[in-house]
Amino acid sequence: MDFKLRTAGTAAFVAFALLAAKAQAADVEVLHWWTSGGEAKSAAELKKMVEAKGNKWKDVAVAGGGGDNAATVIKSRIVSGNPPTAAQIKGPSIQEWGAEGVLANIDDTAKAGGWDSLLPPVVANIMKYKGHYVAAPVNVHRVNWMWANPEVFKKAGATIPTNWDEFAVAAEKIQKAGFIPVAHGGQPWQDFTTFESIALGLGGAEYYKKAFVQLDDATLKGPTTVKAFETLAVVRKYIDKDSATRDWNLATGMVISGKAAMQFMGDWAKGEFTAAGKVPGKDYVCVAAPGTANAFTFNIDSFVIFNKPGADAKKAAADFASAVMSPEFQTVFNLNKGSIPVRSGVDLSKFDDCAKKSAADFAADAKAGTLVPTIAHKMAVPESTQGAMQDVVTQFFHSTSMTPAEAATKLAAAAKTK
Ligand code: BGC
Repeated sequence: MDFKLRTAGTAAFVAFALLAAKAQAADVEVLHWWTSGGEAKSAAELKKMVEAKGNKWKDVAVAGGGGDNAATVIKSRIVSGNPPTAAQIKGPSIQEWGAEGVLANIDDTAKAGGWDSLLPPVVANIMKYKGHYVAAPVNVHRVNWMWANPEVFKKAGATIPTNWDEFAVAAEKIQKAGFIPVAHGGQPWQDFTTFESIALGLGGAEYYKKAFVQLDDATLKGPTTVKAFETLAVVRKYIDKDSATRDWNLATGMVISGKAAMQFMGDWAKGEFTAAGKVPGKDYVCVAAPGTANAFTFNIDSFVIFNKPGADAKKAAADFASAVMSPEFQTVFNLNKGSIPVRSGVDLSKFDDCAKKSAADFAADAKAGTLVPTIAHKMAVPESTQGAMQDVVTQFFHSTSMTPAEAATKLAAAAKTK
């Protein structure tokens, strides 16, 4: 082979190798728990945008909802030294992983995108570790919602409850009329989601903060918490016997089809109504969970970015993080997901009335000091504490002998778990 040919061959080989390396290095592996109909549709929008920037999406979707199963998988991937590009991690857990030194500093992307001026400081602080961005926020979900089928209420002659006493009256009528009053599913996080809305509805935002953010012992053991467990036992009476094996989205399906009257769930449930072509105000209604109209339990989904070697991995991560914060993504994703954009400067005109109400209430509650982090969805306390408290709520929910007072005492003890 003459010199020229040889060099041409080598150059072609090098070019090919570079291309191959590039294609491989630009894999964006994303670990999340969005597996229901509405969630998967939303995740698909992110995949589309990331791939449009020349990357290859590698999906790691962990079923189960609420993030409990996903947290276990994330932990084992990190511990084995093989983290994905990005993972759905939120709230105080971001700080915990930041302290382990496994997260990437994405300040350059944040600076280029002007994140500091687009995010409320309370949100930006959650996304930063020691002042540096390590995560990108996706949305704001509101947890204290009740989803109701107005047709079922009408047929049962019941009115939509605005407090927990009214709930009991309505649920009784609905049950007598042959419907399932409350659609509920089997995972512990669903019990905890309902419990936190009950507690907020009975005690208000100040009580909630003292109990579930500050973990004040006397408040956790106190009469309002006991009453919250009593009320959870009332709700339990109106759930069908098949709930134990059910995922949350199948419970939403029961409200959609008119089998059940209501569900206590964050507004990812709206993603299911939307995917089924249902219209709020007509086919279903979104109202604050009983007693919680003047408060807002927030749940912010976010993706942490892991430290990975190599320029291509860094570019892929930057492409991912900037896509997440783009107004295009925040619009199309949140329209499907049921949540609202987390950044400012996104036009809400395409959003429905539930989303508009959520956005207005978020602003009003932030001003009034009644914006509180969800404990059930890992925004309020470290994951180990959250898990221990969730276990108590679930034990109570499935127990025939534990009294509300015992449950409150156990909850206060669990809150001490580090
Ligand atoms: C997440 C939502 C998700 C829901 C059910 C919540 O913890 O924040 O994004 O849709 O769990 O899986």
